[in-house]
Amino acid sequence: MRDNRKIALITGANSGLGKATAIGLAKRGYHIIMVSRNRERGETARQDIIQASNHSAVDLLLADLSSQKDIRELAKTYHQHYQQLDLLVNNAGNSFMTRQISPDGIEMSLAVNHLASFLLTNLLLDSIKSSAPARIVNVGTRLNTQMNFDDIQWEKRNFKGLSAYAQSKLGNLHFTFELARRLAGTGVTVNCVHPGVFRSNLGMNSGDNPAWMSILTKLSRPFLTPTEKAAERVLYLATAPELEGVTGKYYGNQQELVAPPQALDSEANRRLWDISTQLTQL
Ligand SMILES: NC(=O)c1ccc[n+]([C@@H]2O[C@H](COP(=O)([O-])OP(=O)(O)OC[C@H]3O[C@@H](n4cnc5c(N)ncnc54)[C@H](OP(=O)(O)O)[C@@H]3O)[C@@H](O)[C@H]2O)c1
Repeated sequence: MRDNRKIALITGANSGLGKATAIGLAKRGYHIIMVSRNRERGETARQDIIQASNHSAVDLLLADLSSQKDIRELAKTYHQHYQQLDLLVNNAGNSFMTRQISPDGIEMSLAVNHLASFLLTNLLLDSIKSSAPARIVNVGTRLNTQMNFDDIQWEKRNFKGLSAYAQSKLGNLHFTFELARRLAGTGVTVNCVHPGVFRSNLGMNSGDNPAWMSILTKLSRPFLTPTEKAAERVLYLATAPELEGVTGKYYGNQQELVAPPQALDSEANRRLWDISTQLTQL
């Protein structure tokens, strides 16, 4: 049976931007499906979201998005319990200081920050399409970089955490533009948002953070944008009536941004799509 409320699935909804976005959407009456990899952190955040929004339709699904098996299970569970998906927010992200490998043998920044969104979105596309008009919002970032297609998993070069993070987040833009092209005429829009630099726990649970980084993160908190303010950018793309039908765009603070040149190259977008299809065996 169709839910007469809109349903929104948000990955990484137990912390930072994902949690603030979930609160904003719950306040707007959405039925929230949170995705978290940790039951305790997820449940605590679920209670916080319910309390902050005074809205009880908040469900929790568990998945470690570095694992393609978990992502497939997540999509299966979603299909078993929900008939529609009006909004998908691909928000979960992480940064790694050392080269780590996912359960599928893939470099972790690529696995979590790009391939997880790619696979989950594709597995849920039937529900999203049948809910049209529906929206997909990919949370990217603004780092001017290039995808190194000859060494996308950092096998030939010395690993650099920030560069690996930036490259994987550029993947969000390549993915957004190529998906928008493929979804033309379906009533499903897909856009990418740069949320700014804001207070969060990014990288704190990646298991390889040096102590100085946690200290730096804590010390810099007061100077960074409040998370709720950053979430307004996501909420704008997710809900603004004037963005109905707007697709394949990259937004900052309610204004369109110019993407790095490589992401404007449709060949590069197709190339990453093909590589992602192979790496996820889709
Ligand atoms: N913070 C910034 O200034 C900034 C700037 C630009 C873009 N962004 C982007 O904003 C998004 C949200 O990050 P945030 O800053 O809000 O950081 P955050 O507070 O650490 O939130 C990230 C969320 O992603 C989840 N996550 C990480 N790895 C996961 C995995 N393997 N499986 C499932 N969930 C996983 C985290 O779960 P755990 O709690 O279990 O770790 C957490 O819920 C990310 O895409 C990030 O790249 C952030």
